[in-house]
Amino acid sequence: MKTLTEFIIQRQSEFPYASGDFTRLLNDIGIAAKIVNREINKAGLGNILGSAGDMNVQGEEQKKLDVFANEHFKAALRNGGQCAAIASEEEEGLIIFDNEISRKAKYVVAMDPLDGSSNIEVNVSIGTIFSIYRRISQDGPACMEDLMQPGNRQVAAGYIIYGSSTMLVYTTGTGVNGFTLDPSVGLFLLSHPQMRIPEGGNIYSINEANYIYFPEGVKEYIKYCQQDDPPTRRPYTTRYIGSLVADFHRNLIRGGIYIYPGTLKQPSGKLRLLYECNPIAFLAEQAGGKASDGFRRILDIKPYELHQRSPLFTGTQSMVETAEGMMQADAGHDEQF
Ligand code: AHG
Ligand code: MN
Ligand code: MN
Repeated sequence: MKTLTEFIIQRQSEFPYASGDFTRLLNDIGIAAKIVNREINKAGLGNILGSAGDMNVQGEEQKKLDVFANEHFKAALRNGGQCAAIASEEEEGLIIFDNEISRKAKYVVAMDPLDGSSNIEVNVSIGTIFSIYRRISQDGPACMEDLMQPGNRQVAAGYIIYGSSTMLVYTTGTGVNGFTLDPSVGLFLLSHPQMRIPEGGNIYSINEANYIYFPEGVKEYIKYCQQDDPPTRRPYTTRYIGSLVADFHRNLIRGGIYIYPGTLKQPSGKLRLLYECNPIAFLAEQAGGKASDGFRRILDIKPYELHQRSPLFTGTQSMVETAEGMMQADAGHDEQF
């Protein structure tokens, strides 16, 4: 089986003028993933579970593993020298690598170092999400403008899922490929080439406990999912893990829709555009699916701040389109959204 490194190098040779910087950057992410994976796998044995005692910039409790993952991905990208700056869920401002090598780097990265923190203690799948852009600024230290690019400018995006096995799934805009970590040799091996999200899925994933706070269009779509209509495989089935990476990964393989809508309490939803919605949207589209905020294509939203939030509807194309249709038809009913 082909290793991740072999695969990236082979892809690079398809671009005769590529310098290898991007190959090294992806490789650095793979190395950090293995270190974080090692720690997650033995989490119950050491002193790594529980709260770190601080809040992150969005007022959410930081777990020790959030901090650990953030530090390791940051270190790998700083030491690798191919990344000029990082936006991370766990850091308020842009982290600029202002050393001689990184100042010349061509890329910037947005990341959610550990996604699904609420599942850490209970041994349920968690993940890491990353999004890579070519920087806009030339030379010198990177700046905010480099991160304020719409998702359609991503050069690569992906996630690592720390599940019953550990996988790295990524796209560079020519399809989606998945690699499974063989822990006995410490290598990611190409196990899921050219992943496609099936049409005709029957899974819907949403935190239905928030139902009373949902926009009318979402309430209507949930009713639609629950109606009896065997030709369209309805009623669908609900699966909701509470880790975006794990919920998306399952729907990518099985076919389905994931929704985190705006709510009366949080009109822009909970998920962050730069390091949750955009990378997942890029993967969804590259696998033949779709990603929307209910009204617009996620990848066309122009960001204005690092931690900006967006509603997210993503997965099988026809399912997202049906949900979007209901959102748009009911738009007038919810002035709050
Ligand atoms: P994070 O752990 O990075 O803060 O992300 C958690 C996110 C996402 O992974 C998940 O789908 C969602 O929060 C779950 O939120 P609810 O508990 O509100 O359903
Ligand atoms: Mn997250
Ligand atoms: Mn996180």
